[in-house]
Amino acid sequence: MTAVPRLAVLGSGKGSNFVAIQEAILAGSLHAQIALVVSDWPDATILARATAFGLPIATLPPSPFRTKLSPEGETALVELLRAHEIEWVILAGYMRVVKEPLLSAFPNRIVNIHPSLLPAFKGLKAWEQALAAGVRETGCTVHFVNRDIDAGEIIAQRSVPVLDGDTPETLHARIQVAEHELYPAALARVLQPGT
Ligand code: GAR
Repeated sequence: MTAVPRLAVLGSGKGSNFVAIQEAILAGSLHAQIALVVSDWPDATILARATAFGLPIATLPPSPFRTKLSPEGETALVELLRAHEIEWVILAGYMRVVKEPLLSAFPNRIVNIHPSLLPAFKGLKAWEQALAAGVRETGCTVHFVNRDIDAGEIIAQRSVPVLDGDTPETLHARIQVAEHELYPAALARVLQPGT
């Protein structure tokens, strides 16, 4: 185990949570290093942002499924992470269900952020689910990943109000502001317990 935890960040989209984590590392509030940024989409913005920070990137080969990797793809991902001596797998907008053998390769070392106050609104577009349900409060959750979708042990949560006139876009933007504060702070607690 190295002194500075080696993280891989996995993302499928624009990577704003990745940026928040990397900026916390650069600011010294999160003692870790991002040793690899991985996306399942070669044109994902997260990869361009990682390159702009000078971080190593990798793209997963195409999967026959949209919401998960094939078993062979998941095995190749584990090999990629091992080749980079990754210790923690940080999901940041990674839109595939994590399966074996990745789960067993990193027991209690895969962390996710979800845009709701779990256990409410699991699954896709949780902010749209919150709007449709008419709740006055939603938020975001950082949690450990296990075989059950969005159901692993909760590490930290932050609530945000749902305002009159909110659209999916305005609500998600408000949740993302909370995510960018919560995720680096929650990771600091998990990576350096007791500090
Ligand atoms: C975030 O809001 C994250 O909570 C959500 O995707 C967005 C990624 O944004 N994740 C999920 O919905 C996972 N089920 P980002 O690419 O800008 O970090």
